[in-house]
Amino acid sequence: MNERVHVALPDRAYDVEIGPHLLAQAGAYVAPLLRRPRVAVISDETVAGLHLETLRAGLAAEGVSMEALLLPAGEATKCWAELTRCVEWLLDQQVERGDVVVAFGGGVTGDLVGFAAAILRRGVRFVQIPTSLLAQVDSSVGGKTGINTRHGKNLVGAFHQPSLVLADTAVLGTLEPRDFLAGYGEVVKYGLLGDADFFDWLEENGPALAQGDGTARVEAVRRSVQMKADIVVRDETEQGERALLNLGHTFGHALEAATGYSNRLLHGEGVAIGCAFAFELSSRMGLCAQEAPSRVRVHLREMGMKVDLADIDGDLPDAEALLALMGQDKKVVDGQLRFILAREIGDAFVTGDVAQADVLALLRDALASR
Ligand code: GLY
Repeated sequence: MNERVHVALPDRAYDVEIGPHLLAQAGAYVAPLLRRPRVAVISDETVAGLHLETLRAGLAAEGVSMEALLLPAGEATKCWAELTRCVEWLLDQQVERGDVVVAFGGGVTGDLVGFAAAILRRGVRFVQIPTSLLAQVDSSVGGKTGINTRHGKNLVGAFHQPSLVLADTAVLGTLEPRDFLAGYGEVVKYGLLGDADFFDWLEENGPALAQGDGTARVEAVRRSVQMKADIVVRDETEQGERALLNLGHTFGHALEAATGYSNRLLHGEGVAIGCAFAFELSSRMGLCAQEAPSRVRVHLREMGMKVDLADIDGDLPDAEALLALMGQDKKVVDGQLRFILAREIGDAFVTGDVAQADVLALLRDALASR
């Protein structure tokens, strides 16, 4: 039941392998990439506690040895200080241009370690072994790497494609339900932005998937990764179409900033609320039918996800302040915010043609109904 998605980038093509228990077979996938049988693995303490020895054994089965650096789990690790630590440790390990670095963990680890690999000796190859649903369907594929600064998320980084992605879907079984569902926000995003059939499939199979159906999990990851791979191949550096992958993110990032990037709102939860907002705004602007935002909301609710601002605990800033936070978004061009809106479920587009007054009205209404 293993699946493979090929990311057909010229000169930098790679495979995303998807299936249960791939960690135990890691050596068979990684060894063909190596000039010498050793890898440097960077992970976080939580993932390592659960899975590092399985990975070590999987590599050793093909004669590959590993050294590991463990970082604290959490978004705060995606910072300059931990980047320095990673790079210095990789140099201590005498990682050479021909060696391979392994990023083993969720989106934070993948982004940070991918960036360290991008700048180490002006670029060494790396393998992504994503362990969260969010990382398996989104952040481990496509080569975006980077860290956060005090100015905002992901503002320093590089495009650096992995040489291989190993998405072990059995590992998803060790996620907290809240973390799994947050990753599901990114899965739904794919259906909403470009594949109405996939959204239909999710409406039908989402609950089984959340409850642990292994076949459904492989299929959801495969379809998500395939869609991402197709978009990345057409627009690797986000000159146009790739921005669609940010559906829900302009609102979501503002909400994450407003909640201090804390446990109050996980990234995928912000994306889910942001998708609901993007469809509501599209409907209010007369771009899509009124039924579309309702359908999005019903599905997210059925999955037990956050949908409204009322689902976020604690105070939130007013509409003007939220709009200002949206202005930090990387999609701002010449000071103008760009939005991902939709004509219908499965048909999103990028536009700068949105009146601030419409966004403010939407935010005010959402805040008023808290
Ligand atoms: N997560 C959005 C992208 O990779 O473009």
